[in-house]
Amino acid sequence: MKRLADQIRTLNATAIGDAHADLIISGATLANVYTGKLEEGIDIAIAGDRVAYVGRDAAHTAGPKTRTEDARGRFVVPGMADPHIHIDQFVTPHEFAEHAVLHGVTTLFSDPIDIVSVCGYRGFVEFLRQCKDAPARIFNVVPGGLPVDRKFSTSRRLTRAQERTSLKRDDVVGLGEVFSWKRVTDRDPQTMAQLKSILQKDHVINGHTAGASGKKLQAYVASGIFSCHEPIDYAQTLERLRIGMWVMIREGSIIRSLKEIVTEVLADKIDTSRLMFCSDGVSPTDMVRYGHIDHCVRQAVSLGMDPVTAYTIASRNAFDYYLMSRDVGGIAPGKLADIVVLDDLQKASVRDVYVGGRRVVHGGRLVRRTRRPGRPTWTSRTVRVGRAFDDDDFAVCATGPSCVNTIVMKTPIITGAGSATLEPRDGTLCADADSQVLKAANFERARPTHKGVVAFVEGLGRMEGALATTWSFHENDLVVVGSNERDMAAATNIAASRGGGIVFVRNAKRVADIRLDFAGILSTMSFEKVAESLERLDAKVHDAGCRFSDAHLVPLFLPFLALPSVRLLHTGMVDIKSSERIPTVAHRLK
Ligand SMILES: [Fe+2]
Repeated sequence: MKRLADQIRTLNATAIGDAHADLIISGATLANVYTGKLEEGIDIAIAGDRVAYVGRDAAHTAGPKTRTEDARGRFVVPGMADPHIHIDQFVTPHEFAEHAVLHGVTTLFSDPIDIVSVCGYRGFVEFLRQCKDAPARIFNVVPGGLPVDRKFSTSRRLTRAQERTSLKRDDVVGLGEVFSWKRVTDRDPQTMAQLKSILQKDHVINGHTAGASGKKLQAYVASGIFSCHEPIDYAQTLERLRIGMWVMIREGSIIRSLKEIVTEVLADKIDTSRLMFCSDGVSPTDMVRYGHIDHCVRQAVSLGMDPVTAYTIASRNAFDYYLMSRDVGGIAPGKLADIVVLDDLQKASVRDVYVGGRRVVHGGRLVRRTRRPGRPTWTSRTVRVGRAFDDDDFAVCATGPSCVNTIVMKTPIITGAGSATLEPRDGTLCADADSQVLKAANFERARPTHKGVVAFVEGLGRMEGALATTWSFHENDLVVVGSNERDMAAATNIAASRGGGIVFVRNAKRVADIRLDFAGILSTMSFEKVAESLERLDAKVHDAGCRFSDAHLVPLFLPFLALPSVRLLHTGMVDIKSSERIPTVAHRLK
């Protein structure tokens, strides 16, 4: 984008009528996010990529080459933003952005934690290249969550020097979610130095304050971290708003808190200028099913929120937070012409979308396809297990009945600690269908170390078969859960041999899969194909006896060290609270 400073003469001349606009969107009802009012019969004159004039009559800006789009009977709102999203998931950034704009989302603030976890700085730079010239604006943050756990994580991260270099770029706007608030409240020297250097450059730092309150929360905020997307209820929201924090109300594929929070926000008639809507990640199936930030607006309006307020939360507030309010966030002179034309304000039914004055969506369809960047060959060679797996890789040797420690899947995300008694067969402890104890394994895959661990899980039901993934939060190991060694080996081998993927195998046959051949975490297939594949995969695992309808999340979250209580790494099981390892076999019984 051109800077405002380079365009003030043109914009000034167009607004006053001494130069001609390129485009006039005429006669619309404007949702004015600066006054909170609807204004009827508004013309918007655009010169280059910015708005020059907004008012009842823009005829004075029209010239022989000015194009006019009649928007009478329609509504115009600013392009919406997702202030915290992980788009290094499922599909490429261009593919994702093409679908985000269909939902009126013109800006994505992406935290590419998984690509960095797998590929380090090289991955970060390549990801920024992948985001360039996408149909929506994509800004990235330096992932602030890595390593998730200094004691146990083996993921890659940026060095401080790489961080500093990255933050000089216009497309990098700050530091991503700082997972460990304890590192901040303990004033860990490395963390404090990192925060200081980010703040010195006036960049934004995104917070992650799940479980923090009182003086610990205030110490975190006093360290320059002013936002959080973790509140799951109004009490947590209010505590953060009271101390000047910005709260991103999360409504995405992993957690949905909008209804709970917005209901109380409305009942309490609280100021909404520091609220935003974010997804924290939205899967292609959910995008198709629900939408994106437009879904948040619809939800909020259906709960009784004034529509202009809902669009303000969805647009202006996010740009105010990212210190971009001079350039973007509302429809006004000098602002970038990121404009959404709606057929219906309450339903957020998107008709046309303009990004920088260029129409990218018309009549609800994408009309401007961007050229996708190619990709270096190394991105398809990041699953480096260096061997094929067989049944023996999943053996847990025992000479007699044994008590094993288990990971209890309370949900596909939340775990607990358990135990089970198993009898060995041919010298190895196996999954047990009757007691619904399955096996899980984790192998390092970003480096060819041949390190791996086999453990036991409960809570999935009587699932038959094996589900493997090369993408997992945020260690990105090769993780598999299964009912037998043969299927586990097959699923692991298929996922590894194709450069990455999520694979479900039953009776030694591949039943469903999604190929993730870009760094083992992204697919180069179309959005529609990935949405279809994911839906099919979850359905097949469910059919095979798994009690969860979104089973793909189970291996994704098994290594996730930011959540209690037990997690599985390639170095072993870990009790998060005590920060201790747990052995697979607790003890032999006889
Ligand atoms: Fe996140």
